[in-house]
Amino acid sequence: MIFRQLFDSVSSTYSYLLANRRGGEALIIDPVLERVDRYLQLIKELDVRLVKAVDTHLHADHITGLGALRDHTRCITVMGEKSSIDVVSMRVAEGDRLQIEGVSLDVLYTPGHTDDSYSFLMGDRVFTGDTLLIRGTGRTDFQNGDPRAQYDSIFNKLLRLPDETMVYPAHDYKGDTVSTIGEEKAFNPRLQVQSVDQYVDLMSRLNLPNPKMMDVAVPSNMRQGLAQQKIAERGWAVSAQDAKAIIDRTDVALVDLRESGEREKHGVIPGSVHAPYPDLQHNIHPGGLISELAAASGARILFYCAFGERSAMAVQAAQDAGLTSARHIQGGFDAWKKASGPVERP
Ligand SMILES: [Fe+2]
Repeated sequence: MIFRQLFDSVSSTYSYLLANRRGGEALIIDPVLERVDRYLQLIKELDVRLVKAVDTHLHADHITGLGALRDHTRCITVMGEKSSIDVVSMRVAEGDRLQIEGVSLDVLYTPGHTDDSYSFLMGDRVFTGDTLLIRGTGRTDFQNGDPRAQYDSIFNKLLRLPDETMVYPAHDYKGDTVSTIGEEKAFNPRLQVQSVDQYVDLMSRLNLPNPKMMDVAVPSNMRQGLAQQKIAERGWAVSAQDAKAIIDRTDVALVDLRESGEREKHGVIPGSVHAPYPDLQHNIHPGGLISELAAASGARILFYCAFGERSAMAVQAAQDAGLTSARHIQGGFDAWKKASGPVERP
């Protein structure tokens, strides 16, 4: 198991790089834009392939590295379904599993610091974002923060994890790197309250100044979507509305790039073939599923995913590999449902 805790000293942010093995897939949590070169170097040195970049919530104190990492590595960007970010490749919700090869994180919705705060549980450790810090808790006075919701997230979700569960937060300002649920229960001064009202009162009297970066970071972090417009300008995009008219045609092969869990949860477009995005490079080259599909039937390949991000990257990759008929459904399955396209269970 590869587990690296990385620190940005300017914003006191911790980022985490996880992978099951050298040569395998990797995932990063809460990357910071200014540190992206460092992450890319480490990824190379450890010989891992970054496939997912995740933010626990929309940050106010630094600019996220999600967009830059996607542009460098073609990885999938992930945030919670409640996030006000414009576009990510994948959105997760309470109860979902966030997976890469050999690593599985359970998604916990833990609002309070912001209304889009999520924690990720991986066996003996939990990544708590700014919900639960070491001997502290994330402030609740902006970005739809709510001390009542935070109390519920901490006391009724996080503190119910086994006492020995290690706590890895998104920030620390004092130099601590890790704690445990048991330690925080006993020694976190914010958690020594008798009631939710007492916690709300405590949080409402903090009177903290706004983060220095807030006016820059929040608007920037809300716009991390890939420019799908560029793919459209090249004539490689089909609107969900137009796609409805062509999915039954025998010369169109629909390819679903999402993961099995997304397909089961949200449904699929009838007649589509499943070829998950992480296998794309293999699939578009000679001998691969998509390459063979295009060759055998002479069909036009029409990619789709959840929001059009993975499919836009897939179109570019397929075109680069010589599959000139490749197109994608702009806005993905989300746009498809909004256009009242038919949906079936996989
Ligand atoms: Fe935060």
